[in-house]
Amino acid sequence: MDIKEIERLIKISRERPLMPETYIPWQLEPEAGDIFLPEALTSLQGLDLYETLTPAQKLELGRHELVQVIASYAWGECLFCVFMTRHLITLSADNVEHQFLIRELIEELRHQEMFARVIAKLGGKPIKQSRLHKFFGEFSNKYLPADYLFMGSVSVELVTDVYGNHARRAPDIYPVLKKMFDLHNIEEGRHILYTKALLKKYSEKAGFIKRTLYSYVILFNILFVRTMYVKREIYERIGLENPDEAYKLASKNFKQKFADRCLNDIIEFVNSWKGFNFMTRFAWRRVLGAKV
Ligand SMILES: [Fe+2]
Ligand SMILES: [Fe+2]
Repeated sequence: MDIKEIERLIKISRERPLMPETYIPWQLEPEAGDIFLPEALTSLQGLDLYETLTPAQKLELGRHELVQVIASYAWGECLFCVFMTRHLITLSADNVEHQFLIRELIEELRHQEMFARVIAKLGGKPIKQSRLHKFFGEFSNKYLPADYLFMGSVSVELVTDVYGNHARRAPDIYPVLKKMFDLHNIEEGRHILYTKALLKKYSEKAGFIKRTLYSYVILFNILFVRTMYVKREIYERIGLENPDEAYKLASKNFKQKFADRCLNDIIEFVNSWKGFNFMTRFAWRRVLGAKV
C-alpha cells in the first residue's frame, strides 16, 4: 500500500470518527419480535434438538450466544491492542505506520467500550475464556513476531466481519446491535485494507516454509475464535435437560456452519499468497471443515 493510501485512511479516521456514544440508539429497548442473533448463527439451529425449544428458549439462546461472541471480540481486540502498543514503541512518530496504528488503537478501544456497554444493556454474563484460550492468547501475543501477529489479526478481523454482516443484515435484529455491527464493519474495513496491504509485503517475500507457518497461524486463530462461542453453560442457562449432550452436538454443528458461512474471505486471502499446500490443506479440511 502506498503512503498516500494509508494517509487517506488516517484522514477518514480523524475527520469522520464514528462515536458509539451517538451512533448507537442506546435509548431503544428490545421490542417483541426483535432478535439478538440470526437463528442460522446460533449453535443449535439445524439440529433436531433446536426444534424442541420454545420461542423464549430460542431467543435466550441467541442473547447468550451474542453476548459470548462480542465478549470474545472485545477480549481478542484487547490482546491485539497490547501487541500494537508494544509494536508502536519500535516505530518513529513521523512514520505513517505509527500514525495509522494510533488511529487503529483509538478505534479498537472505542469498540471494546461499545461491546461492554452492549453486554450491559442486554444484561449479559459473558463466560470467561478457557485456560487454554488464555494461555495461547497471551503466549502468542508475547512471543510471536509482528508479521505473524498481523496475520492472526487479519484472519480474526475477516472472519468476525463476515459474522457481523450476517447479523446486521437480519431484518429483525435489535437496532442497537445492528448499529453496533454497522460501526464495527466500517472501521474494521479500514483495518483490514491496511493489514492486508502490509502483509502483502511479507507474503511476497515468504518462501514455502514461511507460507506454511503463516497458514497455520491463521488456521489456529480461526479455531481459537470459533471455539470461544459455543459454551456448555449456555445450554444450562436456557434450561436444557442434557447440556453435555447439547454441547457435543452443537460443537459439531457449529463447526460446519462456521465453515460454510464465515470462511470464504479468509480462504481467498490465504489463496492469494499460496498458503494452501500439501502441508496445510489437510489441516484446514480436518480442523476447520474448510473446502480447500
Ligand atoms: Fe474492532
Ligand atoms: Fe480492527
